[in-house]
Amino acid sequence: MDRNLALELTRVTESAAIASARMLGRGDPNGADQAAVTAMRERFNDIAMDGTVVIGEGERDEAPMLYIGEKVGTGDLPEVDIALDPLECTNSVAYGRPNALAVVAIAPKGHFLHAPDTYMEKIAVGPEAVGIIDINRTATENLNTLAEVKKVQVSDLTVAILDRERHEELIKEVRELGCRIHLIPDGDVSAAIACAVPDSTVDILMGIGGAPEGVLAAAALRGLGGDMQGRLAFRNEGERQRAISMGVEDPSKVFEINELARGDDIMFVATGITDGDFLRGVGFYPGGAKTHSMVIRSKSGTLRFIETEHRWNWKP
Ligand code: FBP
Repeated sequence: MDRNLALELTRVTESAAIASARMLGRGDPNGADQAAVTAMRERFNDIAMDGTVVIGEGERDEAPMLYIGEKVGTGDLPEVDIALDPLECTNSVAYGRPNALAVVAIAPKGHFLHAPDTYMEKIAVGPEAVGIIDINRTATENLNTLAEVKKVQVSDLTVAILDRERHEELIKEVRELGCRIHLIPDGDVSAAIACAVPDSTVDILMGIGGAPEGVLAAAALRGLGGDMQGRLAFRNEGERQRAISMGVEDPSKVFEINELARGDDIMFVATGITDGDFLRGVGFYPGGAKTHSMVIRSKSGTLRFIETEHRWNWKP
């Protein structure tokens, strides 16, 4: 894939972020999401690629735009699969909280897991801990091993966990071990990435979040040299059957990072909508706005931070 595509994709996430950021704190999750989706969909029209959405806004009959299977781009080569979330952390925009992102990742056809819209149990870590995590082991075992390879006390580790009732036992176990906990109201894509960005204060993400978000996080971690495992967590038999119909042969399988996002030709772009762990949110000023994005290419392992000034009087 032409590396310049990464900059084109940045325009897509920037547009979604600016549109959605206008809805900050209005208590309107649907409006914030719709603004991001519409802006992102429109921007895709200009991009020279033959893209198919594989992680998107939902099924064709439930999402009018950016649904799974929708074709986007001009239709010219390259042929790519797209994983996207125009607004990751809807409530963070609606209620003025941190870590909302506009996210797009692309890879050659067939390289993203076609994850159903269910939950996924996840563990994510940074480059120092590649190969040591095992989702089949207890949290205590994983954290002790992580502390060993990072050469720190286990009580020095910071564990990101979504603040949800389903994590009561996990949080108790991690507290008993003495680790620090970064209890997040939303946004496990951001938390997974935070494990692998330089100078991060988060060591590991644990717990259950969205499965599509798991694929997006894996796409970013592939380029950052981090590691991740995921196992689908179904709420009911219908979700399990849906996974099977989407091509998941073994619904209880542990997916390695390479199975969530395969190969070395993955591009990942995120633009901050609200201030977050590693990206600032959109700022508006007279006549324009400023955005902050991260661009990751797994082929070269480059991580770029792009600060963009958008000037309405030049280009409304
Ligand atoms: P949305 O933007 O779709 O609301 O996702 C936010 C999020 O916090 C994700 O980061 C996370 O994976 C998922 O929701 C967790 O789901 P739930 O809120 O149902 O626990």
